[in-house]
Amino acid sequence: MNEKKLTSASGIPYTDHEDTKGVGPRGPLLLEDFILHEKLAHFNRERIPERIVHAKGSGAFGTFTVTHDITKYTKAKLFSEVGKQTRILFRFSTVAGERGSADTERDPRGFAMKYYTEDGNWDLVGNNTPIFFIKDAKKFPDFIHTQKRDPFTNCKSATAVWDFWSLCPESLHQVLFVMSDRGTPVGYRHMHGYGSHTFSLINNENEKVWVKFHLRTEQGIKNFTGAEANQMKSVDSDFAQRDLLEAIEKGAFPRWKMYIQVMTLEEAKTHPFNPFDVTKTWSQQAFPLIEVGVAELNENADNYFAQIEQAAFAPAHIVDGIGFSPDKMLQGRILGYTDAQRYRLGANYEQIPVNRCPFAVNNYQRDGHMRVDGNGGRSANYYPNSFSDVRPDMSYVRPADQLDSNVADWFDRNGEGENDHYSQPGIFFREVLDQTGKEHLIENITSAMSGISGPKREEIINRQLCHFFRADISLGMGVAKGLGMDVASLMDKMPRG
Ligand code: HEM
Repeated sequence: MNEKKLTSASGIPYTDHEDTKGVGPRGPLLLEDFILHEKLAHFNRERIPERIVHAKGSGAFGTFTVTHDITKYTKAKLFSEVGKQTRILFRFSTVAGERGSADTERDPRGFAMKYYTEDGNWDLVGNNTPIFFIKDAKKFPDFIHTQKRDPFTNCKSATAVWDFWSLCPESLHQVLFVMSDRGTPVGYRHMHGYGSHTFSLINNENEKVWVKFHLRTEQGIKNFTGAEANQMKSVDSDFAQRDLLEAIEKGAFPRWKMYIQVMTLEEAKTHPFNPFDVTKTWSQQAFPLIEVGVAELNENADNYFAQIEQAAFAPAHIVDGIGFSPDKMLQGRILGYTDAQRYRLGANYEQIPVNRCPFAVNNYQRDGHMRVDGNGGRSANYYPNSFSDVRPDMSYVRPADQLDSNVADWFDRNGEGENDHYSQPGIFFREVLDQTGKEHLIENITSAMSGISGPKREEIINRQLCHFFRADISLGMGVAKGLGMDVASLMDKMPRG
């Protein structure tokens, strides 16, 4: 074996790793054994803040390969030719649980993707759902507070969860998705991924289209029932981590096909609802899936902390040929993530190897905690300057956006504007779920709502029931029945016709 000598963090070889220098065999210890202090002090600093959401997760590296030509929509270099390969890192996660929580909790699953392209890292930070609970970023902290622990009991609170959902009817679509068996996928390999928001693509002629990204699992969709997921919590709370890691170790590389849906700017203007509303999907009949390529995860991280815990994905990171949309959630996310990462990992987190763009990074940012890349050496640290050749490349100028309004206001106050919160949830219940899926959905909702307690219990339940009824009468009836309510009297109160 090629042995390496044991050293301190500063490289000094030492021999006593287990025993501390002391006064005689039974006396007190000597301060001069600085290795004891080095070990304890470093150990005390091993933990960093966990992600404020999506704290429990698993990830792996792999390759994205273009299989179909979409250059008429985008000049993004990663899509420039069929056969082109780009290194990727995907991280999957639950949302609400802490770093040590169980993998099979009912929750959406995070589906974060990093594409290391030659124009910089593109992060597509999506979920396993094409939609979300809210449609304005300002509601996000309130929403997440209801998913985390109650400030008094320090326990999860079904009351807070359903109180918030019942007061935010735009959540209904995602609530149905999460309460269906898709809220408890069998690990991370058997679920689709979505960019969820509307983004834009820009081609070589600077023409823009609106786009949604879909990643469809090649392993097939597989879900646990609520009971199976609960059972798995006690058998293996790290089920999804183990499942992904072991599949890749034995060469069963999970794959997802990437598709896009494309909407022209003209189509968006006449679309029956706001195409930038993340609580709604685009019809696949009207905007069919267009195949793009395949993502394969084929390399486990060698070190979880270095490569997965320290990974930083940010919706702000789009590359040439890909753009934002006016989606109010996406707009909020653009600033939120990099701020979180500066707090969680430090100002120079982009230099951590897993986050570093493997191609060129040149700018005038300098100094800060843990600056470890040479800090620009002797080169000028200001711009404009007469010395350095680091200058903007004007071939990357983005086309100007045309705005259709010059009025600024708080549109959509409380989510009640131009909205129809019920048609798509109704379609999800009637057309996407089969009979067993419908039964499981109702069982899961009933069981979750049974946890609502306190003086507002009845009010919250009635308000939420109204949303279910408005999406589909049999859904409302099923949940009411499951909660032991007097269904006949509810029927009498229902509007006729
Ligand atoms: C993680 C904020 C909505 C998917 C995070 C993090 C923050 C955050 C601060 C932790 C980042 C880190 O420490 O690295 C927000 C805000 C939102 C929002 C303010 C609403 C405006 C969404 C939506 C999706 C999503 C709509 C999916 C469509 C994710 C994923 C992660 C994450 C997948 C984990 C990324 C990883 O694996 O490191 N979010 N989020 N979030 N968010 Fe959001």
